[in-house]
Order: sequence, then structure tokens, then C-alpha cells
Amino acid sequence: MHAAPHIRLHRLLLLAPPGAGKGTQAKRLSSQFGLQHISSGELLRQEVAAGTEIGNLAKDDLARGDLVPDEVILDMVLSRVCAAARSGRGYILDGFPRTVSQAEALHQELGSEPEVYLEVAIHLSVSREELRRRLLARAHREGRADDTRSTIEHRLEVFDGLTEPLLAFYERQGLLVTVNGEQSEDQVTAALLDVLGARPARV
Ligand code: AP5
Ligand code: MG
Repeated sequence: MHAAPHIRLHRLLLLAPPGAGKGTQAKRLSSQFGLQHISSGELLRQEVAAGTEIGNLAKDDLARGDLVPDEVILDMVLSRVCAAARSGRGYILDGFPRTVSQAEALHQELGSEPEVYLEVAIHLSVSREELRRRLLARAHREGRADDTRSTIEHRLEVFDGLTEPLLAFYERQGLLVTVNGEQSEDQVTAALLDVLGARPARV
């Protein structure tokens, strides 16, 4: 009989540009370890599909590849993230925080509770050519509205301008780890498990 493998770290942020594999890896880790996966992009797409007030506020930004205003995002996700964090189950943040002011808001809510705040911020590093290739390939398969050639370029610029500064923010907090995201999905998962301090299943 094999017991499930264990991980040492259960509270993580995946911090990476569009197409780097945040969603792919978050799904794998959350189902394997029972961590709560919170994707701000998925939540926004659901709000848009349901025609809610938040969805109506967000849909033009989403279609253009611009960031949705911080207040709207914080309204939508902060209490959810705090509840997940305090549940003790562990969590994976995917796409939030994405600006310094979102990161500051999260830190203000949870930073004084070291047992619930983030344990690690993982930067998945992937070259621009590979990001473009993956997103254009996904456009053919899934038809996500923001996976057009020009919107992809804009999303990458938005990442550089507004999200990349978070790398320094989490570096200062001593939480930043970079993982090579330009390998097979299985290899990336293995590298993440290493960072999370996975111990093999006991026989
Ligand atoms: P969001 O949904 O977060 O999109 P994104 O950051 O642009 O990232 P993607 O979901 O496109 O990529 P991913 O890193 O998840 O990669 P995936 O695993 O899918 O945000 C969308 C929009 O919502 C934003 O533009 C903004 O408008 C708004 N928004 C969201 N959060 C916000 C916030 N906090 N503040 C303000 N606005 C916000 O992989 C991509 C593809 O590659 C897939 O097809 C996958 O199968 C493939 N793939 C994955 N890994 C590999 C691999 N190792 N090798 C080969 N292919 C791979
Ligand atoms: Mg995603």
C-alpha cells in the first residue's frame, strides 16, 4: 500500500506571464494535494458568462487584455482568498495578486498571520516565443476571447509593466523562487514538487 505523497509547503502563489502554465500546474497540484485553487481569471470569466455586475464591469478589460481595476478584483477575490487561507486546507493563487497594490492589500490582510500567509511565490519562467506559441495553439483549440495575436502581445506588455514588479516585491519578502516553466508539463510539476518539499509516498 502506498500512502499519498506529502508536501511541506501548502500556501503558494504562481506568478507568471500569460501562457506560462499557471492554470495547468495549479489544477494538477490542487487535485493531488487537496489545495484550494483560486484563479482570478477563471472567476472573472464566470462572472462575465453569468452577466453579473462584476462581469459587466470586467468584460471589456478582459477582451482587450487590460487588467480589471484593483477595486473590482479585490472585491471579488480578497475575502475568498482570506477564507481559503484561514481554512487550513492550503491554497494556490493563480493570477492574483497581479499588481503591487493587490499584493499590498493581500499582505495587509494576512501578513500578520504567518501561519496563513503565503509560504512561497513561484515564478514560472518561459521565453516569449514559447508563450506566444502556447497561447496561439490554445486559441485554435479553445477559442478563448483574449487569445488573439494582438491581445496576446498586449497581455505580455501588461505583464511586464504591472505584474513583473511583483517579483521584486516577493523577493524582498524572501518568498520568491524561480522554476523553469519551459519543460514538459510533467517536468514542471516535478520541479514544483521539489520546491514544495514533496516527500515520496511511504511504502
Ligand atoms: P488569466 O486567466 O489569469 O490569464 P493569463 O494570466 O493571461 O494566463 P493564461 O490563463 O492565459 O495562462 P496560464 O499561465 O494559466 O497558462 P495555462 O496553464 O493556461 O487572466 C485573464 C484576464 O483576466 C487578464 O488579462 C485580466 O484582464 C483579468 N485578470 C485576471 N486576474 C486579474 C487580476 N488579479 N487583476 C486584474 N485583472 C485580472 O497554459 C497555457 C497553454 O499552454 C495551455 O493550452 C496549456 O495546455 C499549455 N501548456 C501549459 N504548460 C505547458 C508546458 N509545460 N508545455 C507545453 N504546453 C503547455
Ligand atoms: Mg490561466
